[in-house]
Order: sequence, then structure tokens, then C-alpha cells
Amino acid sequence: MRRVVDVGYVTPERDGGSIDRTAGQRGVETFALRHRRECSIRGVTLLDTARLRLRPFTLDDLDAHARLYADPEITRWLSDGPWLGDLARERSERAVRRFVSHWKACGYGVWAVEERATGRFLGQCGLNTLPGGEVEILWAIERDAWGQGFASEAAGAALGYAFDVVGLERVVALARPQNAPSRRIMDKLGMRWEKDVEALGAPAVFYAVERAR
Ligand SMILES: CC(C)(COP(=O)(O)OP(=O)(O)OC[C@H]1O[C@@H](n2cnc3c(N)ncnc32)[C@H](O)[C@@H]1OP(=O)(O)O)[C@@H](O)C(=O)NCCC(=O)NCCS
Repeated sequence: MRRVVDVGYVTPERDGGSIDRTAGQRGVETFALRHRRECSIRGVTLLDTARLRLRPFTLDDLDAHARLYADPEITRWLSDGPWLGDLARERSERAVRRFVSHWKACGYGVWAVEERATGRFLGQCGLNTLPGGEVEILWAIERDAWGQGFASEAAGAALGYAFDVVGLERVVALARPQNAPSRRIMDKLGMRWEKDVEALGAPAVFYAVERAR
């Protein structure tokens, strides 16, 4: 029988956006201290793929990101979403602040995903430290750009960065069991189901992939 474990999942949207206040942020800090070398990556943070540019989030992205999180068809799959109105805006702002502080603390994090041909903001993809130090990969793409392989392309680049640049040994991912596109992306990334967990009071699946030797 599959084991169900509460992973104490703290998502970027739910932490307080301050390095001191929340378990999620403390996770980043602790991780940064414990792995100072790996967290002192300086240099390349821009990733170009065939069609996409991934660049670290900044506070200038607050409005574009708020539009992403204004879509409940997107946020229904995130942490305790869906969120509507002011709550969506608040969760978006927390997430962006968290992304920015994560980049500062660790030298890697979640990228803003843009279409190279147009410069259009497409969404988010990247790496987030969970309480306890495991690093998850996450993604969300604007709905009118779904089904074109953008999330897979961005996630492939982010995972390559995690292993080849950051030097992580293992990356994990969580999704609601019914989130078929995300589970498909996890499969395509070579991630394997490890366990069923409880994340924010609802069932989730926990996948992981180890660095190739
Ligand atoms: C998940 C998400 C990022 C995917 O974005 P995307 O750019 O459309 O994804 P891609 O086109 O790269 O790939 C999706 C894959 O899932 C497959 N897929 C899509 N719908 C599916 C379904 N209902 N059942 C099974 N597979 C499905 C696609 O066919 C594709 O696989 P393929 O390359 O083998 O054909 C997007 O749907 C999204 O933003 N969802 C809301 C936020 C979210 O779920 N975030 C993750 C939380 S864990």
C-alpha cells in the first residue's frame, strides 16, 4: 500500500514573503547555510531554450505575475488555490517576493518564462526549497499558451540547471493527483512517483529524480 506522508508543504504563495517569518523562508535560510558552496552560484542565471528565455523574477514582474494568478484555472492546481480577486493578487505578490528572496539566498530559484520571439511573459518555472531542504521544481503557464510544449521546455532547462550548474543531487515535485499535464511533464523529465502525501490538507503525489551519475 502507498504510504501517505504529510510533507509540511509550504508553497511560495503561502509563506510571508519575509526571510524571517515563515517555515518556508527558514527552510531557504537553513538550506543556504548548510549548503553555502552550492548556494553561492554566481554567473549564468539567464537560460535560453529554443523558444524561451528564463530569467530570475524581479519585483518589476508583479503585474505580469498577478495576471497569471488571476486565472483560477491555473491557481486551482497551486497550493490551496483557486484564489479569486484580492486573494489571488496577494498570493501572487507573496510568490514573487519569495522568488526574489530565494534567488538572493541561494543563487537559484524560479524564473520568469518569456517567449523569445515576442518577449511576452508566459509564466513561471524553476526551483524552490521546501522545508527540510529538498528542492522542488514547479511551473505554471498562461492558459492561452498551454499545449505548445512551453512548460516542458522550460522545465527541462530548469532541471538541467539544477543538476549541472547548482550541482543538486535530487529534485522533487508535487502535484495534485488529477493534474495530468503536470504528471506527464514529470514523467518526461525522468521523475518517478515516490509517495502519496498530504499537502495543505489535500492529497498530492510526490515525484523525484536523482542526478545521473
Ligand atoms: C501544467 C502546465 C504548466 C502545462 O503547461 P503546458 O505548456 O501546456 O505543458 P506542455 O505543453 O509542455 O506539456 C503538457 C503535457 O501534458 C500532456 N497533457 C495535457 N493535458 C493532458 C491530460 N488531460 N492528460 C494527460 N496528459 C495531458 C500534453 O499532451 C503534454 O505531453 P506531451 O508533450 O507528451 O504531448 C499548465 O497546464 C498550467 O499552467 N497548469 C496550471 C498550473 C499547474 O498545474 N502548475 C503545476 C502545479 S503542480
